[in-house]
Amino acid sequence: MNRQSFVSGVNPSHAYRLLNHGPTVLVTSAHGAHCNIMAAAWNMPLDFDPPKVAIVIDKNTYTRELMEASGTFAINVPCRAQAALVVRVGNSSGRELLGKSLENKFAAFDIPTFTASEIAAPLVSGCVAWLECRVIAEPHIQNAYDLFLAEVVAAQADERVFSEGRWHFEGHDDLRTLHHIAGGQFLISGESLNAR
Ligand SMILES: Cc1cc2nc3c(=O)[nH]c(=O)nc-3n(C[C@H](O)[C@H](O)[C@H](O)COP(=O)(O)O)c2cc1C
Repeated sequence: MNRQSFVSGVNPSHAYRLLNHGPTVLVTSAHGAHCNIMAAAWNMPLDFDPPKVAIVIDKNTYTRELMEASGTFAINVPCRAQAALVVRVGNSSGRELLGKSLENKFAAFDIPTFTASEIAAPLVSGCVAWLECRVIAEPHIQNAYDLFLAEVVAAQADERVFSEGRWHFEGHDDLRTLHHIAGGQFLISGESLNAR
């Protein structure tokens, strides 16, 4: 797994800005020899520094099994060019691939990855931001609402579209982020407005 180009570290106090505009994300997870990826639209920043996030991960997902076993996961922020991939990994379960020759979604869908710095879950190449997360155990809300809280232990972004704490997609239409509505329909992140 190679590190991809254009990746640069994000100041932890700016990590919340990677999710502040409400992108649909890819959640990657790993435990032992197993790894997985799913789509998640229901995610949000929760705190500035140390940065924390909240994300809904359904009980039936294989992702949840690996997240609960490892206590870690990664949030990968995909872009327009990856919309079909988001739909594909969000409509199939890694559990169904166990024991098959292409034993996980990364192999089955030929998804390139690179190594995370703090956790075992792979990071998805071609995304525009990555947040490595450690679960903050809150069994009640996990069980009652499928809601997971986590601390961001490392954050990176594609410097072509995020630098100095700001998104700037102008001139990079394929790197604009995705916002799921329903049934595979997305809005794409649009123009920027400074209201100050
Ligand atoms: C665009 C999109 C957004 C989704 N958002 C969420 C979400 O926020 N939370 C969730 O639990 N499942 C969500 N899903 C469904 C999971 O991605 C889906 O159940 C997936 O098959 C789980 O894979 P796994 O069993 O390999 O972990 C979403 C699916 C799509 C296509």
